[in-house]
Amino acid sequence: MSRGRFITFEGGEGGGKTTQIARLKAALEARGIVVLHTREPGGTEGAEEIRHLLVTGDPGRWDPVTEALLNFAGRRDHVERKIHPALTAGTWVLCDRFADSTRAYQGYGHGMDDDDIESLYRVAVGNLVPDLTLILDLPVEQGLHRAVHQRGGSEDRYERMDKDFHQRLRDGFLDIARRDPKRCTIIDASLEMDAVTKAIFKAVRDRLDLDLS
Ligand code: TMP
Repeated sequence: MSRGRFITFEGGEGGGKTTQIARLKAALEARGIVVLHTREPGGTEGAEEIRHLLVTGDPGRWDPVTEALLNFAGRRDHVERKIHPALTAGTWVLCDRFADSTRAYQGYGHGMDDDDIESLYRVAVGNLVPDLTLILDLPVEQGLHRAVHQRGGSEDRYERMDKDFHQRLRDGFLDIARRDPKRCTIIDASLEMDAVTKAIFKAVRDRLDLDLS
């Protein structure tokens, strides 16, 4: 059996990742591919407990290094217990956020050192790298407006951080894509949903050689 593909969805708040992952999952399943839709922070029982610590409470609750450590602790559990076994079994894994979110939020957003983040990556994740990363990019104002209307509830710790922070995030994700163009594709998420889906399917065709049209 061939190994599954690992696709990560990244970007700031309100980019419509949930809808787009559901659409890609349905299209892959229609071609007989087994798909796992998962998310970070979270994805396993333990990592979901860590998620709760990260996404609720006061915006200044954690310093950036603690925040990165918590994210990588959850990520290790997720990779070990869920992502690796799924890929080995031939399942395609669609992950709503992965390590680029730590690079963008804790690195570009909160100023944590790049090399330190990469050291944590080596320890927690090892050699696993996504086959394709789709960065859903849109203007900060538009994303925050959408996020506030979509979410509700108490998981709003990051949305309550200031606008400059969200601008650094956006610039950070674009920089990550520029530095790793073989893995990353920028998707214009300001467009209407069908156009975004089309761009994602095109990326899957171009990068992973699978035609979903
Ligand atoms: P979500 O809103 O996409 O579910 O993600 C929860 C929040 O966690 C989101 O604001 C981004 C943030 N986050 C980080 O700061 N670092 C990380 O490594 C990950 C995975 C998410």
